[in-house]
Amino acid sequence: MSNIKEINRRRTFGIISHPDAGKTTLTEKLLLFGGAIQEAGAVKSNKIKKGATSDFMEIERQRGISVATSVLAFEYQNIKINILDTPGHKDFAEDTFRTLTAVDSVIVVIDVAKGVEEQTEKLVEVCRMRNIPIIVFINKLDREGKDAFDLLDEIEQKLHLKVTPLSFPIGMGYDFKGIYNLWEKNINLFTGDPRKDIEDTIEINDLSNPELDDLIGEKAAEKLREEIELVESVYPDFEKESYQGGELQPVFFGSALNNFGVRELLDCFVEIAPSPRPKESDTRLVKPTEKDFTGFVFKIHANMDPKHRDRLAFVKIVSGKFERNVPYLHVRHGKNLRFSSPNAFFAEKKEVVDVSYPGDIVGLHDTGNFKIGDTLTSGEELNYKGIPSFSPEHFRYINNADPMKSKQLEKGIDQLMDEGVAQLFKLELNGRKVIGTVGALQFEVIQYRLEHEYGAKCSYENLNVHKACWVEPSDPKNEEFADFKRVKNKFLAKDKRGQLVFLADSAFSLQMTQQKYPSIKFHFTSEF
Ligand code: G4P
Repeated sequence: MSNIKEINRRRTFGIISHPDAGKTTLTEKLLLFGGAIQEAGAVKSNKIKKGATSDFMEIERQRGISVATSVLAFEYQNIKINILDTPGHKDFAEDTFRTLTAVDSVIVVIDVAKGVEEQTEKLVEVCRMRNIPIIVFINKLDREGKDAFDLLDEIEQKLHLKVTPLSFPIGMGYDFKGIYNLWEKNINLFTGDPRKDIEDTIEINDLSNPELDDLIGEKAAEKLREEIELVESVYPDFEKESYQGGELQPVFFGSALNNFGVRELLDCFVEIAPSPRPKESDTRLVKPTEKDFTGFVFKIHANMDPKHRDRLAFVKIVSGKFERNVPYLHVRHGKNLRFSSPNAFFAEKKEVVDVSYPGDIVGLHDTGNFKIGDTLTSGEELNYKGIPSFSPEHFRYINNADPMKSKQLEKGIDQLMDEGVAQLFKLELNGRKVIGTVGALQFEVIQYRLEHEYGAKCSYENLNVHKACWVEPSDPKNEEFADFKRVKNKFLAKDKRGQLVFLADSAFSLQMTQQKYPSIKFHFTSEF
């Protein structure tokens, strides 16, 4: 039987933002609309509160929450929506990058007062590189913020997007009166009461209707007419194809906290957001409608209970359907695995499922077979691409602090690296191990988890590295490459996959090396 009906009704997406813009609040309001939760406050923020960086109970608590909120699924208007959670904290940016390989679209939340922030820029850049369709939600309109047009300009310039508003605010902050919905051509008035039933949207198909003046006052009505005229003359018409191709980004305004502008966003989202998209593998493009199952691991979560060493591998289904107890090929290991209790995710719980479809995420219990990026198929030997490692920002030697426990340490490091907590490099010169991380926090996480989950102790030693670059010689046999390896031997290492990496100690030395060896390419991500 064909899966087309199930595929067409799936929307798998991520919400990204700079911390505090309102991602958690928006997620919660979307779940409320879907009837998946009954009251506000049910979704826990997985952000790490300021000042909590060395509180390990806090880290454990966060890990618990992040398992619970990894995938939040609900139904709305007969559409199955899967929200993939992305950590906001910048030290976990790499987690977010990986999750972005499993989404079919994203919603970017921007704080109306703060505008485009650093973390948003980085995340949107990754989405843009992959042509992921983006919807922008400008949040906190109940507060004073930047002028709407200035903000739209800022988004275009800083995020390099081409935007078109599908809703527009009427006033802002103290003066905030509501939203004009350009998509549905109606007005939604703001009462500031989050419990208000938002069904009573007022139909205003024609802005010249004098009723508008009675509704929001003459001055505000006049301003709105001018602004909408400007919007319509300056911004391109919305086209679904351009949005889905990543070339045009619709913008919505609202206040997640006040449940305002959220229904408009969701109604439009289910209509325009793409269902599961085809995905490139190392051999061919795989379509979701194909009969045979394929999928890939984009996240691994270790068990919180040290007595049970199994882990949960999150697999995004790309094609076919995934069935319980059917053997699938683990392509990297070349062996068949069968899963007796695959988990599907709902808003607040997970359950064993018999069948899952493209766009869905299944959680598979794993005793150490998986690492991030692994592909599972019905038998075909293909590997999904697109889960690169980025150059870490922080580097330290890792040493064994308890010689009796070297095996445990080895295993622990191995598994934590498979989970993608950090990257491991082995120096060519002396085989010493170097850990590279995105944020300083991960070193503490690793040390804590090695001790509590593997019974191993480690210590760190500083190492001066500016960037890790993956090395690609034009000809591995030429004299230039041989010279490079000889001269830079001290700075060379292998990553976990055995790829050669140059650990440059400064921006200057990197630049000099690039100049001296023009036939060698230096890449800042592991996939090139
Ligand atoms: P994040 O996940 O993106 O980090 O943001 P989160 O939803 O946790 O929101 C950050 C803060 O912004 C929260 O306040 C939240 O209540 C507030 N917020 C979200 N949406 C709106 C909005 O539309 N208007 C206004 N005025 N505030 C909004 P907090 O004080 O940090 O947390 P809490 O104590 O309220 O939970």
